[in-house]
Amino acid sequence: MTASPFVPTRARDLRATLALVWAADPRQTALIGGLSLVQAVLPAASLWVAKLLLDAVARAVTGGFAGEAEAFARLAGLLAIQVGIGVAGSLLTTLQGATQDLLGDALQHAISRRILDKAAGLELQRFEDADTYDRLQNAYREVGSRPLGVFSQVVGLAQAVITLGSVSALMAQLGWAVVPLVLLASVPGVWVSSRFGTLDYRRLRRQAADARVQNYLGRLLTSDEAVKEVRLFGFEGYLLERWRAYYLKFRGELVALIRRRSGWGLAASLVSTALIAAATLAVLRRAAQGALTVGDFGLFVAGIGQLQRQFSTLLQGYTGVQQNLLYMRNLFDFLELPARDLDEGEPWVGPIERIDFEDVSFRYPLTDRDVLRGVTFSVRRGESLALVGANGAGKTTLVKLLTRLYEPTVGRILLNGRDARRFSPRSVQREMSGIFQDFGQYQMTVRENVAVGRGGGGAESARPRDAVPRDDTALRDAAVRAGAAGFVEALPGGYDQMLGRWFAGGQQLSGGQWQRLALARLYYRGGSVLVFDEPTAALDAHAEFEVIEQLRGQASGRITVIISHRFSTVRLADRIVVLDGGVITEAGSHHELMALGGTYAAMFTLQARGYLQGYGAARADGAGEHVKESP
Ligand SMILES: Nc1ncnc2c1ncn2[C@@H]1O[C@H](COP(=O)(O)OP(=O)(O)OP(=O)(O)O)[C@@H](O)[C@H]1O
Ligand SMILES: [Mg+2]
Repeated sequence: MTASPFVPTRARDLRATLALVWAADPRQTALIGGLSLVQAVLPAASLWVAKLLLDAVARAVTGGFAGEAEAFARLAGLLAIQVGIGVAGSLLTTLQGATQDLLGDALQHAISRRILDKAAGLELQRFEDADTYDRLQNAYREVGSRPLGVFSQVVGLAQAVITLGSVSALMAQLGWAVVPLVLLASVPGVWVSSRFGTLDYRRLRRQAADARVQNYLGRLLTSDEAVKEVRLFGFEGYLLERWRAYYLKFRGELVALIRRRSGWGLAASLVSTALIAAATLAVLRRAAQGALTVGDFGLFVAGIGQLQRQFSTLLQGYTGVQQNLLYMRNLFDFLELPARDLDEGEPWVGPIERIDFEDVSFRYPLTDRDVLRGVTFSVRRGESLALVGANGAGKTTLVKLLTRLYEPTVGRILLNGRDARRFSPRSVQREMSGIFQDFGQYQMTVRENVAVGRGGGGAESARPRDAVPRDDTALRDAAVRAGAAGFVEALPGGYDQMLGRWFAGGQQLSGGQWQRLALARLYYRGGSVLVFDEPTAALDAHAEFEVIEQLRGQASGRITVIISHRFSTVRLADRIVVLDGGVITEAGSHHELMALGGTYAAMFTLQARGYLQGYGAARADGAGEHVKESP
């Protein structure tokens, strides 16, 4: 019926799913189970009373009662029971529906929480993997409906078994062939819907990767970040066309599926009509023989509906559980991704006074090229280290290793002479602060933008109250150092001003202002290692000068690592490391490297000439020649 038989993983997933539901709210789960069992016996009871009622009517019509009063009392009594059963059924259904809604809500919250927790603990490199995105997306989409679906189907199965058993027992009195024929009549319909349910699942799963591309295209057309370039370069048409091409592809697949499903569905209903007719014929034959009462025939007519409904519920419940479990597998796949426990390892305490890279190489996951090779250097407390090199040389990657967002593929990083891997990444990171090239612009208040990094990380930063301290001195201090205090204090809301365009009352900042806030975040957090990846790229010349002055003021007693393409900044560092294609080609102070006359000297000269004479002249003069420097 479905793609695969009920394999052990499926059984395990079923248990895991039910456990999720139970954990979300044990009381409501138990209540729904109990209500269902009571409901399970109502249909048979109702059928039986209806039969008795019909028989009593027939007897009254043929004058079988002693008097009118007796007949009426009997009929009214049966009616009262029937009404009672109906009312009980409505009550139970209402109560069950309400409980299920509440349980669904609790479940959605519980599982979303688990997914977010999981995402927060995943290794960074997971996010570079398209497969993880697919899984995350799949998991997130199914979060609300599927687990509850599994649970209500399991409950429905138990309920259907009981109802089916009791109704079959009643109907079996009408002739041996009746029950099997009626049950058989349900099979084709159930088969069709189960078969196509599985196909539909496979279709959606197959489309996940394409759907992600389509989503992305849609986002480019609707996002505030992309709109400038899209308009200026005028590629709305191109994006729309590609977006539509995906739609047409999906549409084609859907149409094919619906066509096949309709054909098979029609065939199934013809077969089932024929089988019901056969069963009816068998009953009519016994009626012709005078072997049945009117109530028996009424029981048959109403019973057919019940049997078919229950049998479909049973089979559909079974295949439905399997299908929902396929979706649950998406969720479990994601939840079972290995996470890196950032707190695993010895806790690091005290300042970092020395960092050594020993023959470090690194390759991004799922790629086949070493981005860093044999990188060896040291930096100590009080020193500033500058990394220079062309775009793509590996500077940012080196910093990701230094801050332990990634671990080296080969080689070691030593902290105060001890292998960094021994220590928990989080405890090491607590000693570090930084600004990345693609620093965050958080759609929150100024205060939050600066203060979010203050907590210890992970669970320790969990209390929002800590991220927004009332004590403004440290906050202001960081803002001043980052050159952000001026524009922040001019904002209508000051430090409580909402930023960005996403939420009401938000004020958008310029690129350079955002960068200064990121710097303030760095200073506010502090630490014994400060990392600056292009910290002044978006800053005006004046601001850059101030930032660099501040940065130099901070350098004593710390390790400072700075990446910059501006040699005015780089030359101030105690030590300069030149990266070329992932390899260190030169290292030394500005003066040493200038004296060496290698790549650094050439790049420095090119830029210096560019400033003084314009780049055309610098190139014409030959970049290898150095400008005279003034120490
Ligand atoms: N997440 C990633 N997955 C795979 N490869 C990557 C990833 N990030 C960077 N790379 C590759 O690693 C190399 C080094 O990139 P890196 O970002 O370290 O360069 P960079 O020196 O900081 O350059 P830039 O001056 O442009 O900032 C590049 O060739 C890049 O293509
Ligand atoms: Mg970079």
